Amino acid sequence: MIVVAGPASPKLGRRIASSLKCGLAPLEWKRFPDGESYIRIPFEMKGESVIVVQSTSLPQDKRLMELFFILDLIGELGAREVTVVIPYLAYMRQDKRFRDGEVVSVRVVSKLIESFNVDKVVLVDVHSKLVLDYFNVDVVEVSAMPLIGSYLSSLNLSNPFVLAPDRKALNLAKMVADGIGCDYDFLEKRRDKITGEVKTYFKEMDVRDRDVVIVDDIISTGGTIANAAEIARNLGARRIYAACTHALLVGDALMRLSSAGVFEIIGTDTIESNISKVSVAPAIASIL
Ligand code: R5P
Repeated sequence: MIVVAGPASPKLGRRIASSLKCGLAPLEWKRFPDGESYIRIPFEMKGESVIVVQSTSLPQDKRLMELFFILDLIGELGAREVTVVIPYLAYMRQDKRFRDGEVVSVRVVSKLIESFNVDKVVLVDVHSKLVLDYFNVDVVEVSAMPLIGSYLSSLNLSNPFVLAPDRKALNLAKMVADGIGCDYDFLEKRRDKITGEVKTYFKEMDVRDRDVVIVDDIISTGGTIANAAEIARNLGARRIYAACTHALLVGDALMRLSSAGVFEIIGTDTIESNISKVSVAPAIASIL
């Protein structure tokens, strides 16, 4: 068994290889002056079972092309069995047609991935279970939430409370709350289908003088978490933490969260950055 870590996931790829006690294939990559990507794997893979690890966060389309190049290449290099780990799957929020005439983007992405004869797809905290249905090959989803719960437990939070910023994140909040051993609740949120603007409705909750952890699958612009943080702050929360699997953090998201009173942001290495405080490698390695 050998791991190929794509350009978007060098650390996670290495951690998965080390958890599995297997080798890491050499990979060379660059971008040409016009922005096109180049991949080279100077390694013989005949008969090997290969695990490709490549996240597809910003710049999504380039990351997807790099993934397709790797999948095509390892087929040519003789890989016998291919598992593709996509820690963050681009376009997964467009998992259905919300308005007439819209493309179901993630279905296109799944078709493209499958066209490279992969045997198994591994995803982390997909936006909705619908995403899994678009794959016709064996697909497994793992969750970062138990690992995020362990990290939070190590922080010695004061009388913690876990909050889902919308109904869809409730199951994630429950997993984290179960890990910490505390109670949890959720807020109602509405997103304007055209402008993308988010409105969150106030709700009474018992958070006074307590550390509140807001949990979501993705933090993109930070709007969802900022709204929830403001509500928690107005209710007298002590410290506010924001934890997510996929910290996209676009534009001024970090500033926005800090202005809303968020004390610490916790992300994972599904998107590698300096807030990747939790590694999902153990969760992924456990199902490989
Ligand atoms: C959407 O429902 C997701 O679960 C997240 O809540 C959303 O992607 C967060 O986006 P933003 O940070 O831009 O509010």
